[in-house]
Formats: sequence, C-alpha cells, structure tokens
Amino acid sequence: MKSPKLFLRKLTKDDLALVYAWRNDPLIRRFMFNSKKISKAEHMRYWQKRLRKGNCYVISTSSRPFGFAKFDKFAEGYDIGIYIDPTEQGKGYGALALKALKKIAISSGFKPLFARIKLNNLASQKIFKKNGFKAKYVCLECNLA
Ligand SMILES: CC(C)(COP(=O)(O)OP(=O)(O)OC[C@H]1O[C@@H](n2cnc3c(N)ncnc32)[C@H](O)[C@@H]1OP(=O)(O)O)[C@@H](O)C(=O)NCCC(=O)NCCS
Repeated sequence: MKSPKLFLRKLTKDDLALVYAWRNDPLIRRFMFNSKKISKAEHMRYWQKRLRKGNCYVISTSSRPFGFAKFDKFAEGYDIGIYIDPTEQGKGYGALALKALKKIAISSGFKPLFARIKLNNLASQKIFKKNGFKAKYVCLECNLA
C-alpha cells in the first residue's frame, strides 16, 4: 500500500478543541502519565502557557488533521509526545509522523530526544524503536498507598 503524504504544521489555538477531544479519548489517555480525564478549563489553562513556548505540531494528510505532537525541553534534552486520532491508529501514520518529527528535531537542535513510554504501550515502543530510539533508562515505581 502506498504511504499517504503527511504534513506537519504548527499548532494554533484553533486546534485546541480537537486536541482536547483526543486528549480525553480513552484510547489515548490510558497511555498518558496523567491518565485522568481533564476538564476544558484545565486544558485551556495549560495551553494558554504551553502555546507560547511553541514546538507543537498538528499531523495531517491533505484532507484532515489526525494527530498531534510536541517537543518539551527538560534538563537532559527534549521529550517528544505524540498521539494519533484513535480512528486512525495502527495504519502506519505514527511511525511516519515520527520520521518527519525527527527531521524537525534535527533542524531545530532538539537533542538528545527522549520518549517516556508506559511499559504496556507496545505500539508506541514499536514506532520509536523503528525510528532509532533505544532503551537507556528504566523507571521503577513503588505504590506506597
Ligand atoms: C502510539 C501511537 C502514536 C502510534 O501511532 P500509530 O499510527 O497507531 O502507529 P503505527 O500504525 O505507525 O505503528 C504501530 C505499530 O505497533 C503495532 N502494535 C499496535 N498495537 C500493538 C500491541 N498491542 N502490541 C504489539 N504491537 C502493537 C502495530 O502492529 C504497528 O507495528 P507494525 O508497523 O510493525 O505493524 C498511537 O497508537 C497513539 O496515539 N496511541 C495513544 C497515545 C500514545 O500512546 N502516545 C504515545 C505516548 S509516548
């Protein structure tokens, strides 16, 4: 099957309603570190600050947007986050989008790049490994409650 052409464009405030719907979709939020549903007000408060920093992208084909990605700077490098519309997952878009996002990271000097992924998120581990990411750290949790 021929791969569709993907486009990445900067996220704007007009995209926030769509990003909100994706963020709260159970098929996406189960793999977030904060996997609770968030309110619209909480979402808008977060984006009011986050939009100013930039480095957020909408992934689309020529016909419609179907995913979102962002780079966040932290002490050791840049953390990349990505999600694909639940109706479009498993069609190869995530791996393709990541390839394009790596090009942005290279041209923007976002390195090293990190992806923090839950152990049970096999699809995500797969697309990152396919794109040259290798496991370097292990994070262990002890639930003291
Ligand atoms: C993770 C995510 C971005 C991947 O995008 P995608 O478009 O679904 O991924 P692709 O179709 O390119 O590739 C998924 C791969 O994982 C495989 N896969 C999917 N579910 C799997 C599972 N439960 N177990 C093992 N492999 C699985 C697919 O077969 C495919 O591998 P292949 O190309 O070798 O066949 C997308 O599924 C998503 O948005 N998930 C929810 C949010 C999320 O987890 N974001 C990442 C946080 S780090």
